[in-house]
Parts: sequence; C-alpha cells; structure tokens
Amino acid sequence: IMIFDKEPTSDAMIFRQLFESDSSTYTYLVADPGSGEAILIDPVIDTVERDLQVLKDMGLTLKATLETHVHADHLTGALKLKDQTGSKIAYPAMLKSSCIDIGIKEGEAFRVGNIELNPLFTPGHTDHHHAYLIDTPVHKMLFTGDALLIEACGRTDFQSGSAEDLYNSIHNKVFSLPGETLVYPGHDYEGRFITTVAQEKSRNPRLGGGKSKQEFIEIMDNLDLPYPRKIDFAVPGNEMCGRCPDDIPEDFKGTCAYHDQG
Ligand code: FE2
Repeated sequence: IMIFDKEPTSDAMIFRQLFESDSSTYTYLVADPGSGEAILIDPVIDTVERDLQVLKDMGLTLKATLETHVHADHLTGALKLKDQTGSKIAYPAMLKSSCIDIGIKEGEAFRVGNIELNPLFTPGHTDHHHAYLIDTPVHKMLFTGDALLIEACGRTDFQSGSAEDLYNSIHNKVFSLPGETLVYPGHDYEGRFITTVAQEKSRNPRLGGGKSKQEFIEIMDNLDLPYPRKIDFAVPGNEMCGRCPDDIPEDFKGTCAYHDQG
C-alpha cells in the first residue's frame, strides 16, 4: 500500500493518445487538471468532432492546437477547431503564415496551465519541424512528430527534407535526452503506440545501434516510397492552418465537408 501525504499537484497532468486511421496519425491531448486547460498536438481535420467530444467528456477547455510541422499526409484540424472553440493556432514561427496565432521557437516554452512544453527544433523530415518535450521530475515525454517514429522515422524526400539534417536532429536533440524519456510518435502504421529514447537509440533500424550518418543517408535514399496521395492539397492547406484548398480532388472532399458548407 502506498500512502501519499499530499497530492502531487504540480506534476499532475491529463493525457490522451488519440488516433486517426486514414493517415495513421496520432493526436495528443495534454491538459492541466487544475485549470482544465487543454491543447491538442497535431489534430486531424477528419477527427475534429471526435476530439471535441473527448474534450467535452473530460470537462476540458481547448486553449490551443500545436503542430509539429506542415503535414503532407492529412489536413490539420487546427482551423476547424479554432472556428468551433476559439482555440489559438500554434505553429513553428519560421513558417511565417498569417493564420498563425502563436509562433513556436526552440528556447521559448509553450505553456498550458501549469504544464510546460519545450520545443526542440528537429529539421530533416521538413525544414521547420519541431518536437515537444515535457520534462518534470515525474514526466519525461517527447512528442516527436515525424522526426522519430517507432523503429522508423519520417521520410526526407520532399518538403525541404534532408536525411543529413534528420540524422543530426535525432542524434543531437533526441538521443541526448535521458534514455527513459517516453517517445510519442506522430504516426504508427503497425498498431504500436509508444517507445523510449533508449529503445530507439539501440533498436531503431535506420538511426539506432550506432548507424553512421552515411549509412542513414543511404537507407533514406533507397526507400523508394510512393508519392503521398494527399500531398498536393495537404501541404498548401496546412500552410493555411488547415484551410481546404478550392482544388481539392473529389475523392477527398469529405474531409472538407465542414468548410464546403460555409
Ligand atoms: Fe509529416
């Protein structure tokens, strides 16, 4: 039996890992139980109604949406959530888009209630990618976006991607964190949920186990991946914080039904 003489209020946190199946994207809900303030990291437009229901069920107020990068495989839910809740849109500041309410920079903590997220500039998948670190005596959590995935990493062959930059980002900014840091990826395509810095450092087949930069670049150069099916409208749409472009293909119009109506 464990007896606590006082509530660990300063470290208390509400957390949910949410999934969007069409793009296999993880959206993360982080909230401060004291104030009831919440953020969503990398929300997806297709699952905005689900996310709003989760917030409602948990009695939380959405203060902001926080993006790791401009996604190529789905439209962000940022603008739709702002339209419905008044949440602020946080994006890496270097994107300089007029739709951004809060510009994120490494070295400037992002706060939700008592919880602090520290942005880590981690280019390579894109040239503006940021990961977010929660580091308290109780919680060590890193939201890696598409920089580091479970036994994988984001691709580096479009959107100003660079295998060399990604290798440097992972080795200098991620693998230098305490090994027990929990890693929450932006995607998983095989039903996995979570990993740790130590586990990826030793087992990641592309970046771990002492792989050299040259070996990594060669692996990334030879992946031979298909052209992303949503990239042509997702990238321009996400540069506008999740606005549906007029020329969205018929197949994907369902995603934008909300915007079509108004
Ligand atoms: Fe991505």
